[in-house]
Amino acid sequence: MIPLCDLRKQYAVLKDEIDSVMQQVAGDAHYILGPNVKAFEQEIADYCGSRFAVGVGSGTDALYLALRALNIGQGDEVITTPFTFIGTTEAISLVGATPTFVDIDPQTFNIDVRLIEAAITPRTKAILPVHLYGQPCEMDAIVKIAEEHGLEIIEDCAQSIGATYRGQQTGTFGKAGCFSFFPSKNLGCFGDGGLVLTDDREVYERVEMLRRHGGKVKYHHTEVGLNSRLDELQAAILRVKLKYLESWSRSRRRCAYQYNRLLAGVSGVRLPNEICTSGYCSSLAQNEASDLVEAVYHQYTVLVEGRDSVRDSLTESGIGCAVYYPVPLHLQEVHQDLGWQVGSFPNAEYASERCLSLPIFPELTEEQVHRIAGTLQQISKPAMQVA
Ligand SMILES: Cc1ncc(COP(=O)(O)O)c(C=O)c1O
Repeated sequence: MIPLCDLRKQYAVLKDEIDSVMQQVAGDAHYILGPNVKAFEQEIADYCGSRFAVGVGSGTDALYLALRALNIGQGDEVITTPFTFIGTTEAISLVGATPTFVDIDPQTFNIDVRLIEAAITPRTKAILPVHLYGQPCEMDAIVKIAEEHGLEIIEDCAQSIGATYRGQQTGTFGKAGCFSFFPSKNLGCFGDGGLVLTDDREVYERVEMLRRHGGKVKYHHTEVGLNSRLDELQAAILRVKLKYLESWSRSRRRCAYQYNRLLAGVSGVRLPNEICTSGYCSSLAQNEASDLVEAVYHQYTVLVEGRDSVRDSLTESGIGCAVYYPVPLHLQEVHQDLGWQVGSFPNAEYASERCLSLPIFPELTEEQVHRIAGTLQQISKPAMQVA
């Protein structure tokens, strides 16, 4: 069996280091907002090239707290993509604002920057781009639109830690970058965890206060906050893992480019594209030379005809795979009040019906990628004929 993501393997490699810091935290008994949280916040801020970082309870909380810190709420609209995890829009809805969807660019799976301006209304307060699968959005265009229309940018970096756009880390383009440390993320802890990154001292102080019940001084509360602190134990684990992140990202890219090579030309399978200075790139040569983005391949996602039967066949062949995401958010029951319908965002719908994420993790071997690609090649042809 080749799993989609192999957390056991990662732990086996890091066991001594991780066990040691966990024991240290247990012994020190400083379990809430202790020295590891503080040190990790500084280390992530330094790694990303930002001034401040606040560790919080999850990626969803990070988005919620960032929106709160920017005073986005009732009556406001936030532009985002319908092709993302529900946490993105949950945060928008929880602050009382309305998610306004803009279709994706079918080449990148990310928000189509050419469609953003048409979605701006007098109520629009922010753009919330999601760097899906670890592929940076077209940030030049998003920053330009935001500046021209006086909008905030809050980046959803749950899947993109370490990814860069023109050499700049995702999460540093707007007022806040929001990260998730859910176990299967590129930098994952042993439970839930998240973080808000910002250069803005006010945003930093506000998120820091909101994460611990809305008060700067213990038992004195100035506004309704919540209990959303990154655990000390999780921070200690994340500090160990952060040291390996860059090499893990390189391994993920190596796997992705190997897939690109092996799957090029396979009928019925469309490979993921990266953006680069000359437009889109999907071939091996440009991927290796891409000077505009460095994606971190949280997922390696192809579009495949007859997706469900291909998924079932891969699973039967002992290859883990997953569908991220089968229902775009504008068609989710929870968002029915927004009034969108089938056909509202055709590219997101098209992707939802065909997307299939293949195994990708730093420890995946070249041999395994060969086996996966070979199996997919065999499976996809009959599936195409049926489709
Ligand atoms: C794109 C995206 N946004 C937000 C989230 C929410 O993060 P969390 O699960 O840590 O709340 C996730 C996590 O799966 C995600 O993938």
